[in-house]
Amino acid sequence: MKIDVVLGLQWGDEGKGKIVDVLAGRYPAVARFQGGPNAGHSLQFEGKSFVVRSVPSGIFREGSTNIIGNGVVLDPVTFREECNNISRMGITPKDKIIISKKAHLILPTHKLLDAANEAAAGKGKIGSTLKGIGPTYTDKISRHGLRVGDILAPDFKDRFEKLKQRHIRQISDLNFDCDPEKGEQEWMEAIEFLKSFRLEDCEYFVNNWLEAKPMLAEGAQGSLLDVDYGSYPFVTSSSTTIGGVCTGLGVPPSRVGHVFGIFKAYCTRVGSGPFPTELFDETGEKIRQVGHEFGAVTGRPRRTGWLDLVALKYTAMLNGVTDLVMMKSDCLDDFETVKVCTGYKINGEVTDRVPFDTQAEIEPIYTEFKGWNTDLTGIREEKDLPAAFKDYIKFMEEFIGIPVKVISLGPDRNATIER
Ligand code: IMO
Ligand code: MG
Repeated sequence: MKIDVVLGLQWGDEGKGKIVDVLAGRYPAVARFQGGPNAGHSLQFEGKSFVVRSVPSGIFREGSTNIIGNGVVLDPVTFREECNNISRMGITPKDKIIISKKAHLILPTHKLLDAANEAAAGKGKIGSTLKGIGPTYTDKISRHGLRVGDILAPDFKDRFEKLKQRHIRQISDLNFDCDPEKGEQEWMEAIEFLKSFRLEDCEYFVNNWLEAKPMLAEGAQGSLLDVDYGSYPFVTSSSTTIGGVCTGLGVPPSRVGHVFGIFKAYCTRVGSGPFPTELFDETGEKIRQVGHEFGAVTGRPRRTGWLDLVALKYTAMLNGVTDLVMMKSDCLDDFETVKVCTGYKINGEVTDRVPFDTQAEIEPIYTEFKGWNTDLTGIREEKDLPAAFKDYIKFMEEFIGIPVKVISLGPDRNATIER
């Protein structure tokens, strides 16, 4: 069987949680392959809403298995908190979650280092979520990290102490003032909690599973935040694109099936970095308010702008997207005109490529559409969609060369049209 993939094609917050939750009914297992608690995936069903951070969005589906893969970085404290909240919904996380022993642990000092790095960067700061993501992946790549499986080793505390002391030296080099012991006791308690879970060599589990049953991989962040293809250095520290599925779960590329590429009908970005179609006017503010574009994790107001098809075509190419999934078009119901960016003008020249120098002065070239001025939220069938809206989608499909297979018209599970 195949592992199908859901991933974000923009700067995160595309609505991956909702789509994974919708699709999870068809996949008995959902796996996270990268990122960590910098993710905030919102789900809404039966009048309830929930935000998951490290736990896969399949958790609320009956009988589902949820895998936290080796490519993920795990903060035991956030994880325990999340599990406690899930337990209150009448679900027993321990019965439904399997964690890779090779996933790396976020230490309390990783978070301090994140803050220290950002403070030292001043105006050039990334706008990190300060969850310790960058420093944890740095330790992984530089071969200093601690992994989930290490918590079972007799010398775990010594290894923790050694890494902590290393971090303290780094923090001191950055002249950052903080208490390095802060949160340590809580962290150690959360490590004990983690020990009660199924910790496995997940690559065996995943490949065995795929012999008989399908699985869904749930991306976090978005392709434009990918450490290689995003607007470096204003990116996250993991491979958010398709290759991350293979390295983050231990599955060969031949196992990958459908790739669902999720995007919003407009763009948002949190944190710093280039954003060619960003709006600083009333329209941008209107999108923010109508779309409730405030961070699910940090509460920060998100930057907003028109849909960027140049960037979308690029990320669809990188991921080999088979099915486009369009989110939140209902948020544009009340606009006289709707714009999409179809080219960049850089130094007087027009291009349809994302340039190496993402800091370059980019002037977006727009194609304008007449707004559909119809309330889409109650529509459940393709035939009831207004003609202006259908034209808009057709244009997009032709530009990118990939069909829009799913249209989401509201946050609830049921507000979804499959084509
Ligand atoms: P989900 O999965 C949106 C952004 C941060 C910052 C940059 C680096 O909910 O879509 P990091 O903490 O990873 O070092 O921050 O990446 N960022 C996200 N933006 N959605 C996310 O996740 C994000 N995770 C990280 O705002 O600009
Ligand atoms: Mg988010």
